[in-house]
Amino acid sequence: MRENPLVLHVLGARPNFVKAAPVVRALGELGVRQGIIHTGQHYDALMSDVFFADLGLPEPLANLAVGSGSHAKQTAALLVGLEEVVLEHDPDLVVVYGDVNSTLAAILVCAKLGVRTAHVEAGLRSFDRGMPEEVNRIVTDSLSDLLFVTSPDALSHLAAEGVPASKVHLVGNPMIDSLFSALPSLDPAPVVERLAIPARYAVATLHRPANVDTAEAARELVSSVLEVAGRIPLVVPVHPRGRTRLAEAGLVDGPSVRVVEPLGYVDFLSLVRGAALVVTDSGGVQEETTMLGVPCLTVRPNTERPITITHGTNRLVTPALLPAAAEKALADGAVTPSGELPPLWDGAAGPRIARVISAWLKGDNLSPAAQGTRSE
Ligand code: UD1
Ligand code: UDP
Repeated sequence: MRENPLVLHVLGARPNFVKAAPVVRALGELGVRQGIIHTGQHYDALMSDVFFADLGLPEPLANLAVGSGSHAKQTAALLVGLEEVVLEHDPDLVVVYGDVNSTLAAILVCAKLGVRTAHVEAGLRSFDRGMPEEVNRIVTDSLSDLLFVTSPDALSHLAAEGVPASKVHLVGNPMIDSLFSALPSLDPAPVVERLAIPARYAVATLHRPANVDTAEAARELVSSVLEVAGRIPLVVPVHPRGRTRLAEAGLVDGPSVRVVEPLGYVDFLSLVRGAALVVTDSGGVQEETTMLGVPCLTVRPNTERPITITHGTNRLVTPALLPAAAEKALADGAVTPSGELPPLWDGAAGPRIARVISAWLKGDNLSPAAQGTRSE
């Protein structure tokens, strides 16, 4: 390895920023030279800038401003932009996060250029290839050199796909590290006051293509969400993807439903912390509600995060069953079947990842067990 090696983090979308912040911080503490490349997949201030501020992420070295488009157009722009920037900076390792198109494009570019890569949040599977994220996960994991895993079930998925155990490190969940860091700042009261909602309320976030991309799906979902709002005042910070369709389906701001712009990270988690119930189709929000012990109903037929059901507060629901499930969840409160959080969701995933990366940069090929992480 070269003297003073360089690590680049490729980030593009809202959940990437949350997952990367603890890793960037921990690598910085180890003195590793690093930089962020922002692809610009998410670009609104409330989808991007606010996260850099709330999470204390450093300014990116570059912003590729790829913007929105079909999968082909967006991925093509990502490939072209990332190839240039990787050639320009000549990194020793590129770290990618989660399952978004920016993740996929960065892995492909690096594989073709012979640049080594690490994937944070490897091995999650919904086994639903109708989800663009599932395709991104499978390709990303098959091409990564280092795979950082957030929950034990992911280890068996990677083993079944033939990924050598020597590449895989169970390190815990950096999204939960970010939540731990934010915890002292999470106060629902000012957000509740600003939004003029009662102290007992629910929160909903909905952005999966299967829920918001067609008028029919949006109509079915909104009708159930409005039923929930009939039982408890509901705040819906709307992801820009679903803004038009959900509004056309009848999700408009009113006394029982507060339809608002996306919230910043600290405001959003403050609201979630104080909520009696969360309704979502987000990946990260399933994990955050598990950690905060807030009942969560996920409006999806499957989840790549089953650990939030077995060790958390999450339940899968169909739109049709949502109102009854909400009624029951409000009556029962949070029920965590195992009574304990998922293993290693302890706020120290970032430092574990940084230790493995730092050793790897020094050419140290110690086994995952010897690195203080486990491969099985
Ligand atoms: C992407 C990820 C998804 C992740 C989500 C997190 C992929 C394939 N999907 O979905 O896995 O859960 O991010 O939020 O990578 N838009 C804006 N402003 C922005 C960004 C997007 O208005 O700053 C609108 C545009 O109309 C765009 C649409 O949102 O067409 C979708 O954006 P895109 O990045 O393609 O996918 P997401 O739905 O955000
Ligand atoms: N989030 C936020 N403001 C919002 C909605 C979500 O800060 O209005 C945060 C949330 O706490 C989590 C992350 O964004 O940390 C998840 O992003 P998203 O749901 O867009 O993506 P997914 O996790 O589904 O890929």
